Amino acid sequence: RKKVTIETLRRMHAKNEPITMITAHDFPSAHVADHAGMDLILVGDSLAMVALGMEDTSEVLLEEMILHCRSVSRATKSAFTVGDLPMGSYEISPEQAVESAIRVIKEGRVQSVKLEGGAEMTPTIERIARAGIPVLAHIGLTPQRQNSLGGFRVQGKTADGAMKLLEDALAVQQAGAFAVVLEAVPAGVAEDITNRLSIPTIGIGAGSGCSGQVLVQVDMSGNFPPGRFIPKFVKKYGDVWGESMKAIQAYRDEVKTRAYPAPEHTYPMPEVEMKTHNY
Ligand code: KIV
Ligand code: NA
Repeated sequence: RKKVTIETLRRMHAKNEPITMITAHDFPSAHVADHAGMDLILVGDSLAMVALGMEDTSEVLLEEMILHCRSVSRATKSAFTVGDLPMGSYEISPEQAVESAIRVIKEGRVQSVKLEGGAEMTPTIERIARAGIPVLAHIGLTPQRQNSLGGFRVQGKTADGAMKLLEDALAVQQAGAFAVVLEAVPAGVAEDITNRLSIPTIGIGAGSGCSGQVLVQVDMSGNFPPGRFIPKFVKKYGDVWGESMKAIQAYRDEVKTRAYPAPEHTYPMPEVEMKTHNY
């Protein structure tokens, strides 16, 4: 498969072909996503929770994002890669943001960055884009701002809220974002925004009217123990946790009963008999 570029994404959007995106946080999760033919692979700061066991995304450091971006980029041959700018690495000034973005590109080896925020982030998006780094915007539910949003809630439910979202979407487009993630937005609002933009929208919990979709890989592949909460918008396409559990339990049982290793997993004795040397 040919390498996906900004140009490929533009062509898909022009043809109204849905754009596929998924998160990855390390070499194996990127490897499988790339082989499965994803157009975009995102090293989301959701790795704070799904890979590092943190409470929320505000805890993850730029250095940690860079380390994970690097392992994802090594596994990715076709997909276009995006690295999240973590909280604290871009809000202070456009200069701070471009410095962080350059580190994510140079050290993390991904091809673009994502940051959260709408109209208020336009000078920052412009500054990063001017440095030649493609920027993916992210509006609606912005998890880094969960404390000021009052938790994880659907955004743009009121007429005012929907208007604010549209203004944010137009602002990030004007600032030079190559696409915008719409998270937890009513489907009708997301579709309306999509129709009014010239750049693609990538939805997560935003209905089927977006130009593309993104999901967190551990969620969609079912790589979590039974009983864990997953958001309404997630469809569980597999049971990776269940499969790993079965495999590891079978291995454990076979070691305990000495069924493993069997002769076929064992190196035969050498032809020449091993003698004990008498030094
Ligand atoms: O961090 C992440 O995984 C994300 C996606 C959910 C869009 O930002
Ligand atoms: Na994120």
